[in-house]
Amino acid sequence: MPGDHSFVLMPAPSQFGVLGFLIILLLLIHILFAGLMMGGGVLSVFFNILGHIDKRSRFRRFSREIIRYSGSTPGAIFLMGFLPLVSLMMLYARVMYLSGLDIFHFFAFIIVHSTAGMLLIYNYKKGVIRDDEVRVVRTGLCLLGILSMMGAYFVFAASRILFATPEVWELFRTPVPMLFSAAVAARFNLFLTVSATVTGTGILLYFFRWLPPMESDADYRKFALRAGVGISITGVIGIPVSLLWLLTTLPDFSLSPELIFINVLILVVLMIYTLQITGMLTSIRPKLNNGPIAMLLLAAILIFTADGMIRETSLQEMRAVVIRQGERMLAEQAEKRGIGAAAEATAAKGEEIFQNRCTMCHAFDTRVVGPPYMETVPQYAGDVESLTEYILNPVKKNPDYPAMPDLGLKTVEAESAAIYLLEEYEKRK
Ligand code: HEC
Repeated sequence: MPGDHSFVLMPAPSQFGVLGFLIILLLLIHILFAGLMMGGGVLSVFFNILGHIDKRSRFRRFSREIIRYSGSTPGAIFLMGFLPLVSLMMLYARVMYLSGLDIFHFFAFIIVHSTAGMLLIYNYKKGVIRDDEVRVVRTGLCLLGILSMMGAYFVFAASRILFATPEVWELFRTPVPMLFSAAVAARFNLFLTVSATVTGTGILLYFFRWLPPMESDADYRKFALRAGVGISITGVIGIPVSLLWLLTTLPDFSLSPELIFINVLILVVLMIYTLQITGMLTSIRPKLNNGPIAMLLLAAILIFTADGMIRETSLQEMRAVVIRQGERMLAEQAEKRGIGAAAEATAAKGEEIFQNRCTMCHAFDTRVVGPPYMETVPQYAGDVESLTEYILNPVKKNPDYPAMPDLGLKTVEAESAAIYLLEEYEKRK
């Protein structure tokens, strides 16, 4: 049938199985890595500039050390930044290619801007470590990199919204109009707050786990501790706010009790994390143990799992939308071919057709030209299809009667008549 090739269903949520876990894993690797790079870049530039206004050397040292651990390497950028992102975009494209939207340009934008941003931040890191100076050009390029990454994740947030709102696909040719909605802002905010939390934790990890103690003096460490805890807490307070905001933007079909439960769980985990992190401020010998890191990872896994649940309910809705679109398409094709299947077969229409087209030869209880329906219809009991087929193409049956002529009915008309006859027979028998 023409046009059938374009009517292919996307995978059902149940078929997604392993793929769903893969997406969670890829998101976990990529978002945490990208968030750390971006957060590190922002903080490093901030303290670098601060260090040149206020000549206290600890700001500049802090700036250098932040970018040293978070600025990453080209290898890591490729393995944890580029590769997972490309894989994610390919998985999303697999699901979205039916949307009719120009998603490939959209996804290409995300990949190019995210990767370019990470490389620019890396370039800044190299320069800062080489010579301890704020070079305007280099810092400018780093800021450009940060903006580029922000652009990428803003659009990334919007691409996730596409999943959740299949009903608007038909309205747009490109996803650009969907960029500016509360749902996108909420998701982008979630990315920013997760980035801040990860970066703050990264700072604590660097100073209190990785750096040999003798290398840094107590005063500087105290400063780093306050900065790290401050940034983590700012981020971690923002996460539930973003999540709540996100929930309010979701379509009703996404809001399952399971989703609410996972969100409550995230809240509990983040509260434990906050207690652990603030505990570092008051301890005499602050040390970052595995607790907060485990809680942060758990929270991230739960956040992406909740995201997966939203995606699955949307996928279900999407299948329904595609099926509706497909049915409409087939009906339009049928109408063009003159079958007129655009309308649905119903008993009510059948009764009308019976009155107009059949009564001159048929009655239910008595013989007219043709046999009474009460005698012939029982053989079709429950089988609308065969009866429709007979009405469309009558064949010679009973030697006591002449042949029934072909009445030239449309399929939907014959089907309506068949439905009506079967229903009416059931009522009368
Ligand atoms: C011009 C007369 C005529 C008209 C109009 C007519 N029929 Fe018939 N119909 C017949 C005759 C004659 C037979 C018996 C044919 C045979 O047994 O071979 C028949 C047989 C049938 C049978 C029995 C088939 C079977 O398997 O035994 C059904 C059901 C039927 N008609 C439905 C309809 C419906 C529905 C319409 C209106 C949409 C209709 N007919 C209009 C003449 C007519």
